[in-house]
Amino acid sequence: MFFGRDADTAALTSRVRAQPVVVVAGPSGVGKSSLVQAGLVPALQAERRWSVALARPGGDPWLRLAAALLRVQRSQQSEVSLGEARREVGRLRREGFSPVARFLRSQDRPLLVVVDQFEELLAGGHPDQDLLDLLLPAPGAADDGARLVLTLRADFLPALQSIPGFHTRLNERLYLLSPLTTEETRLAVTRPAAAREVSFEPGLADQILRDAAGGSLPLLEFTLTMLWKAQRRRMLTFAGYHAMGGVHGALERVAEESAARLAPDAAGILDRVLLKLVRTPGPGPGLVTRQRIAQADVPVGEWDVLQRLADVRLVILDTDAAEGRPYAELAHDSLITAWRRLRDLVTDNGEFLSWLARARQRAAEGDPLPEARISEARRWLAARPHDIPEKVSSFIDSSELRPRPECASYETLSLVPTRHESRPVRRHATLRRCAWPPTRNWRCAPRARQ
Ligand SMILES: Nc1ncnc2c1ncn2[C@@H]1O[C@H](COP(=O)(O)OP(=O)(O)OP(=O)(O)O)[C@@H](O)[C@H]1O
Ligand SMILES: [Mg+2]
Repeated sequence: MFFGRDADTAALTSRVRAQPVVVVAGPSGVGKSSLVQAGLVPALQAERRWSVALARPGGDPWLRLAAALLRVQRSQQSEVSLGEARREVGRLRREGFSPVARFLRSQDRPLLVVVDQFEELLAGGHPDQDLLDLLLPAPGAADDGARLVLTLRADFLPALQSIPGFHTRLNERLYLLSPLTTEETRLAVTRPAAAREVSFEPGLADQILRDAAGGSLPLLEFTLTMLWKAQRRRMLTFAGYHAMGGVHGALERVAEESAARLAPDAAGILDRVLLKLVRTPGPGPGLVTRQRIAQADVPVGEWDVLQRLADVRLVILDTDAAEGRPYAELAHDSLITAWRRLRDLVTDNGEFLSWLARARQRAAEGDPLPEARISEARRWLAARPHDIPEKVSSFIDSSELRPRPECASYETLSLVPTRHESRPVRRHATLRRCAWPPTRNWRCAPRARQ
């Protein structure tokens, strides 16, 4: 049930029919993902059978895209194994979308690729250039019949534009989504209830619209969900609305009440869990996005807290379609600013979060930390051992142990004899343990070769 976006749905549908790539951009929470998934896709499907591959980049964007493409190529809903998805990544890197698009067109069900939350590709600070080239090709690239729709938080537009050559790739492709007008919001608020034969107490819908003016849609949706639960005899009431603190108080109240209900030992875990649910490319609450936590990566106590947060819809629990792993994530990015506890946590831990984001990025790229960064990493590991994922701490360890290219040329230096040796020798450090500066190499594991 999707109301209030008829005009945008029609406009976006005709843009997508006419051009291969469209980027739906707008402020966080304005309704981009909903417009594409609940407006555009059903509108396109109503006229012909499209094959819709929907992927969200997350931490493994190639894999997720590949898994989504494999699923649409199979007629039945079948599981995609990790091995299959990896092979598909190889093909996708070599040949792009064209072969799949041609295959699906030959079956008269053209390909629509939707990459939701495209900004997740940019949030780590070092976007994957090959993937950007695939998803946002240079203008004028051959039209193979596939359609690509990307949703992008508008505050990430400057980051995308600053990638050399990319400003021209956005021209002509942007669909800028504005907040719902008051009348559209009225439809979004009242129609879903009316369709289920539930009414608003007289005056309540107007009160909610006044309170929600200029506010975010996710907060409104959160409020309406709570109000729905508090309905009396198929009526949404002022009493229920005031009890939850209205549009502005609902989130804060529900969140803090659920925090207060946690067992005393779990309460201490809450802040740690909340910090794991966000990531930021730089200090401060600027470009913070939510991030998924895999159940396998957190202790049982933390997963319990995530389940409590899911009970009150602050967190979503789901299973990753590409990897089949259960995960948790914040219900919406806007919680990062709307929930005071989380906003303060992000601000107070800005330095740590931005260091962690950089370390994660390097770990994902297999780019070991330089020596100068290892002592900083060790400091964070000692100070916040429970806040650093296992993958990052083992990456720090392996950064220390890795051979460095500087060492390879080092053995060619001629050396002065030590006091134990009568003539100069060439030395070979054990490269596995060597690190810059070279003096450390010699302390590591020198062995002489005459
Ligand atoms: N037309 C609508 N009617 C009712 N609720 C809506 C509508 N559009 C969006 N919403 C709700 O508003 C919230 C935000 O929508 P959505 O996630 O689509 O926004 P977004 O722009 O994609 O946000 P983000 O920038 O974080 O990706 C969701 O909870 C969604 O269900
Ligand atoms: Mg979205």
